[in-house]
Amino acid sequence: MTRPSVRSDRAPRIEPFRVMQILQRARQLQAQGKDIVHMENGEPDFPSPPGVIAAGRTALDAGHTHYTAANGLPELRAASASSYGDDAVVDASRILVSPGASGALQLVMAVLLNAGDGIMMADPGYPCNRHIASLFNADIQLVPVDETTGYQLTREHVEAHWQANTRAVLVASPSNPTGTLIDPAELADINEFVVSRDARLIVDEIYHGLIYDEDVPSAAAISEDIFIINSFSKYYGMTGWRIGWLVMPVEYAEAVSRLAQNMFLAAPTLSQHAALAALDEATEPELLRRKDIFRKRRGYLLPALEDAGFIVRTRPSGAFYIYADCTAYGQDSDALCEQLLEQAGVAVTPGSDFGHHDSSRYVRFSYANTLDKLEQGVRRMKNYLENRS
Ligand SMILES: Cc1ncc(COP(=O)(O)O)c(C=O)c1O
Repeated sequence: MTRPSVRSDRAPRIEPFRVMQILQRARQLQAQGKDIVHMENGEPDFPSPPGVIAAGRTALDAGHTHYTAANGLPELRAASASSYGDDAVVDASRILVSPGASGALQLVMAVLLNAGDGIMMADPGYPCNRHIASLFNADIQLVPVDETTGYQLTREHVEAHWQANTRAVLVASPSNPTGTLIDPAELADINEFVVSRDARLIVDEIYHGLIYDEDVPSAAAISEDIFIINSFSKYYGMTGWRIGWLVMPVEYAEAVSRLAQNMFLAAPTLSQHAALAALDEATEPELLRRKDIFRKRRGYLLPALEDAGFIVRTRPSGAFYIYADCTAYGQDSDALCEQLLEQAGVAVTPGSDFGHHDSSRYVRFSYANTLDKLEQGVRRMKNYLENRS
């Protein structure tokens, strides 16, 4: 491929989101007639709930094809604010409806970071967060984390890794790729320190609806100083609608709205109408049914992977991922993932997609696939790994 003659310095700096490339290769193999079990998926295998799809259709028929206000439909902002229920009273003026969590992350970074400002995050973590920060020429301050803290940042980490230019700390709970949580007391401690340094905490709660064993309050319950990112993609099964929301400290609302007007104009209108149905209590039973299915899949996959020789050091509490040590099968998870895809017909994601720290020892397994398929995937992996020369 020829290199374009006109190109920004930042473009080559942005790494690919590897799992999308794996997905592409898996689809290529499928097009050649190969049967692939997908365990790399970063999205629910279910279609959007029927009420959501119906609401999207109704909105289209009603001609809702124009822009909304940059902050989103007032009724959706109000419904998103109310979704915090007993956790916290969130005023709708602090909500902005965004094109997915991705759009919200871009807005938050745009409003908080100057070029060269530091943003601290855990390694491993969701890769696009680093890449988006890089787009804003931020200084990405990765903190290696391991099972001793559930692969999450602690206040101790944040204090130890603080630099003079650090302006923001980003955490995700549950995390992608580990499915682990930050304890709310720890989060409060981190926030206290971050605010004391005149910086801001960003909490990505995109998987918050998918926590299986306990009730964990939103970071909205901790402080109104925290930026909270959420989305209709995962729990509500709406990845393709590109819709999410941001809760921000009230003093940022005007600036973030101005940025949104320029960067996106508004989130997709049809999706906003559909998202209203997602938050409607009539949809809740279906969402809880799906959540229970994810819980059962985790109940199968976790011991099955351990039985196959993978080591899971912290039990995942949420999302639909299991981050497992694969060193029983070599020291290079990139090579292992390639073999599993090409030879065993199972697509999984190597740790290198999520950072640098110990990444070659880890693989992320997604259980956003049916139990039958997961069982088939595990059988294929075991068979291949036991018999490979
Ligand atoms: C931790 C995390 N944050 C944000 C996103 C982006 O989600 P959205 O589809 O809402 O843009 C993802 C998607 O996989 C994710 O895993």
